[in-house]
Amino acid sequence: MGEKYDVSNVLISEQQLKDRVDELGAQITLDYYGKDLFLIGILKGSVPFMADLMRRIDLPLEMDFMSVSSYGSATKSSGVVQIIKDLDSDIKGKDVLIVEDVIDTGLTLAYLKEYLQSRGPASVKLITMLDKPSGRKVDIKSDYVGFEVPDKFIVGYGLDVDQKFRNLPYISWVK
Ligand code: IMP
Ligand code: MG
Repeated sequence: MGEKYDVSNVLISEQQLKDRVDELGAQITLDYYGKDLFLIGILKGSVPFMADLMRRIDLPLEMDFMSVSSYGSATKSSGVVQIIKDLDSDIKGKDVLIVEDVIDTGLTLAYLKEYLQSRGPASVKLITMLDKPSGRKVDIKSDYVGFEVPDKFIVGYGLDVDQKFRNLPYISWVK
């Protein structure tokens, strides 16, 4: 499988991911104590991060997934966002935390944040496992960041190239 790509160059190890998720979970547990936390994972890239993070948050939270597609080539997004799968439940009055794999241009999240805000939640914040600040095309900041990464194409822990390698337990450069 995958002879086309070399994914053996570990950028963030499985242990580093685990340790950071523990820290983020503890921080969110403190920050959202007494609130109505509602996690929204963005399919499909957020799946491993969401699954790990939610188990490190010691609060009675709710969760759901959304699926969006942003048009463009395999490695560049265009900013046009289409909602493929919307939420199953109401977020009115809830404290929404959007869970993403990576923020690059920020176009997807800028759109989503506004879209969710229009549904009357108490708050909307963002958490991303990875942040590529140098790729930004719109002014959007994540409230929680796992790791800052350089503007290179990476895979693993949810991130894909040609829909492959989402299952890598670590994050690798793609060569
Ligand atoms: P943006 O912030 O709107 O540019 O979109 C970010 C989305 O682009 C992520 O949710 C990923 O699906 C994808 N993406 C951005 N950078 C990478 C990468 O290095 N590897 C794999 N997918 C990426
Ligand atoms: Mg994504």
